[in-house]
Amino acid sequence: MGKYGTVYLPEDIKENVEDIKGNEFKKERLNDFFKALTKYKELSEQLKKTKLSPSLTVLLFGPPGTGKTSLTRAFSKKYNIPMCVVESDRLVSPLLGDTIKNIRNVVELSADIAKENNSFVLFFDEIDAIGSERSNIHEVGEIKRAVISFLQVIDKVNYEGIPLAIFGATNHQHQLDSAIWRRFTFHLHFDFPNYELRKEIMESFLEKIENANIGVDKGIYEHLNNEYSLIKEVHENLETKLGRSISEFENNLLWNEIEKKQDINGLLKLTIGYSGSDIERGTRVALFKVIQTGILTYNIFYQSLELVGGTAVHVDRQDVLSSTRSLKRTATKYASNKTPPRETPPEV
Ligand SMILES: Nc1ncnc2c1ncn2[C@@H]1O[C@H](COP(=O)(O)OP(=O)(O)O)[C@@H](O)[C@H]1O
Ligand SMILES: [Mg+2]
Repeated sequence: MGKYGTVYLPEDIKENVEDIKGNEFKKERLNDFFKALTKYKELSEQLKKTKLSPSLTVLLFGPPGTGKTSLTRAFSKKYNIPMCVVESDRLVSPLLGDTIKNIRNVVELSADIAKENNSFVLFFDEIDAIGSERSNIHEVGEIKRAVISFLQVIDKVNYEGIPLAIFGATNHQHQLDSAIWRRFTFHLHFDFPNYELRKEIMESFLEKIENANIGVDKGIYEHLNNEYSLIKEVHENLETKLGRSISEFENNLLWNEIEKKQDINGLLKLTIGYSGSDIERGTRVALFKVIQTGILTYNIFYQSLELVGGTAVHVDRQDVLSSTRSLKRTATKYASNKTPPRETPPEV
């Protein structure tokens, strides 16, 4: 198994479901899914004659760093089910025969473990590598054959009622072969966090630092709360004015309105277009400074987050952006609008 990816035993998995903030709807779906997985044997016996046995497949799509892998891993831990994360491009070989063999091997091996163990999670990361023309290795006809062979092994697992959950994750949903897309029962969309969620994610990392007995300047929380209240107020007023709800990322509407009112310059504005993973990286960078200062200050935190930058600004692949084009516009606009952060909380 190790040849194709990384195996995680539940007891070795560090993250908990609660560590991934927000995403409540997806958590509910995944919770149902994992519950069904633990009872799959009885379920599929019961449903055998009906041909209604649910296929244990989930496709997670959306920009990198938004929690697709870690949330799945956290559920594996919660339900005590081992998991293997396969880097799909490692299955793809210049020889079509080898690609097909690799795909079959990894699924059959996982199916054996699932049977022995009562359940197993096989997670194809960057699943678009299978059957994508971006690899440029194969001719279109060969790509189709690799896809067909992939679909066949999945079908076989389902047909036999094996308690193997197959996950696929992709940042390039538009490049994913449509037959693969359709074969997955659940499609869960991950996205860049909005200001509310960014606040929650930042606070959770700050809390972790405090739990490690490292000082965190209370001013950071104050800044966050003040900035949040200001954005929220403008947001609510704008929605009342427009008579509908709007997303933070819709055509700069909200941020233009905020700018009209006040030139705020805080952490939430800085992190437009940041993924949870970007915020985590910024926090790690900050810790290098904290080793010298002994305390995490607002300025250190701000500058470290600024240094790592946000994924939405950096990626300009068409497929990632088509769903977040407006977000990128907003993020780019504010990323280039850099003025030094203030030590005092913004006035509200
Ligand atoms: N919603 C979130 N809440 C808290 N942390 C997050 C969130 N989204 C991403 N992260 C952080 O980013 C890290 C990387 O996310 P990951 O699951 O690898 O993203 P993906 O698989 O979508 O590329 C996570 O381990 C977590 O620390
Ligand atoms: Mg991932």
